[in-house]
Amino acid sequence: MSVTEVFIGSDHGGVGLRDVLVAHLEGRGMKVRARLGPDTAGESVDYPDVAHQLCAAVLSAHGGVGILVCGTGQGMAISANKVRGIRAGVASDPFSARMLRAHNDANVLCLGERVLGTELAKVVFDAFVDAEFEGGRHARRVAKIDGEGSEV
Ligand code: RB5
Repeated sequence: MSVTEVFIGSDHGGVGLRDVLVAHLEGRGMKVRARLGPDTAGESVDYPDVAHQLCAAVLSAHGGVGILVCGTGQGMAISANKVRGIRAGVASDPFSARMLRAHNDANVLCLGERVLGTELAKVVFDAFVDAEFEGGRHARRVAKIDGEGSEV
């Protein structure tokens, strides 16, 4: 099922790339369901707060994907993956972004504004939203991420 609705958020370290991606996805005909985080890079916030807010929105919508941008993407991914039902990963290349959806059924993509140029970030975004979960053996593995026994 192709992605038509996107939740997007950033901390102060990701404001610029977040807004570039908002324009990009709207240009593709996608809808922004929520745009979270500060309006300017001068307004410092704590990335876990934005990550948790965005993950709650993604889960309650029962559809759509989330994009989280911070300086590196890493803090957002660590925070998002603490939320049960969220599968988040950082990607800095289109192959990894595609695999995040195709094999890991990720519902949140994390990007680093201080890592990626804007044109590469758009390509990475496109690879993520255009990919489809392949299911099959990957479904068994994804089920184990949240399933019983994951508390080792
Ligand atoms: C903020 O300075 C920075 O730490 C944050 O954007 C992010 O890179 C954390 O992972």
